Amino acid sequence: MLPAPHFSAFNPPRRILMGPGPSDVYPEVLAAQARPTVGHLDPLFVAMMDELKSLIQYAFQTKNEMTMAVSAPGSAGMETCFVNLVEPGEKVIVCRNGVFGERMRQNVERVGAIAVLVDNEWGTPVDPVAVEAALKANPDAKFLAFVHAETSTGALSDAKTLCALAKQYGCLSIVDAVTSLGGVELRVDEWGIDAIYSGSQKCLSCVPGLSPVSFSPAAVEKLKNRKTPVQSWFLDQSLVMAYWTSAGGKRSYHHTAPVNALYALHESLRLLAEEGLENAWKRHQDMHLVLRAGLEKLGLKFVVAEASRLPQLNAIYIPEGVDDAAVRTRLLKDYNLEIGAGLGALAGKAWRIGLMGFGARRENVALCLRALEEVLN
Ligand SMILES: Cc1ncc(COP(=O)(O)O)c(C=O)c1O
Repeated sequence: MLPAPHFSAFNPPRRILMGPGPSDVYPEVLAAQARPTVGHLDPLFVAMMDELKSLIQYAFQTKNEMTMAVSAPGSAGMETCFVNLVEPGEKVIVCRNGVFGERMRQNVERVGAIAVLVDNEWGTPVDPVAVEAALKANPDAKFLAFVHAETSTGALSDAKTLCALAKQYGCLSIVDAVTSLGGVELRVDEWGIDAIYSGSQKCLSCVPGLSPVSFSPAAVEKLKNRKTPVQSWFLDQSLVMAYWTSAGGKRSYHHTAPVNALYALHESLRLLAEEGLENAWKRHQDMHLVLRAGLEKLGLKFVVAEASRLPQLNAIYIPEGVDDAAVRTRLLKDYNLEIGAGLGALAGKAWRIGLMGFGARRENVALCLRALEEVLN
């Protein structure tokens, strides 16, 4: 018999989360998550899931029937798109301008497909001219995959133009909207996006661990006509959707849904709908402009050029001679403030300041600027 370990209950401090995610969670969302757990097939719970599906459709601006939340974080949303749609031997044009484009490549290769890479410099958006050249050079490509908002650099790519190119060359588009959803303009139906995934923990300011996903009718058609079964049982959308749709008023068990986490997502999306998507996009932009003015006063320089800068993810160069880790440690210890370190090629070179969801508000911007000024001095 192993001896029973004795620990106190875990009581985290209240941090101010201004990194690349998770972001500050709305108090209403935390309260929603603490409500009593009910059965995942309880009639009241499945009625809430119907509402949740329409809230996700609103956030994505889509009427897609195959819209739901994967019971796992953004990475599982990414994997859901690749394992369901891409079959072994198929060609996928993968745009890579940061960490998450590279992860798309790995997903493509793990399903036994061929990734054709379009590389863009870190900190720049995906270049539609280079994408069109790749589409022309690879008429047998079936998909175009790219990251709308690259969290590793803070660059926003032109999803509307890229999806129009995909359509023009007969490809389905697979779009990573983990950091973009709720923070910048995103219109799934209008832009013709075929498969999209996001995460609960960025601009939705929900608890981490869920991934909203949506497939267009063309993507659903591709899934239905697969020659091989989806190799992941858990992520197979044709099985999962039996739980997410009440066909004839009946839902069938696929896996035990994360009941309380879904309450949280329902509440965060309800708050987004109450604010209005366009108002939320504007609030992120307004707060970014206030932050930008303050950072520039401190002499800090952005990694991304203004035209393609994400309001919700501000990557700035660490000034010469400043100790990256020491600054972030002081911010955390003295101000309870978390900002993000650089990732991949920007590790040790940049900080990433998130203004996401509930975190995109004036008092956070003011605290961050004051804390940075004091610590840097
Ligand atoms: C653009 C992007 N894609 C995918 C992911 C993976 O999401 P998760 O960490 O929730 O699995 C992240 C996480 O930061 C991200 O920023």
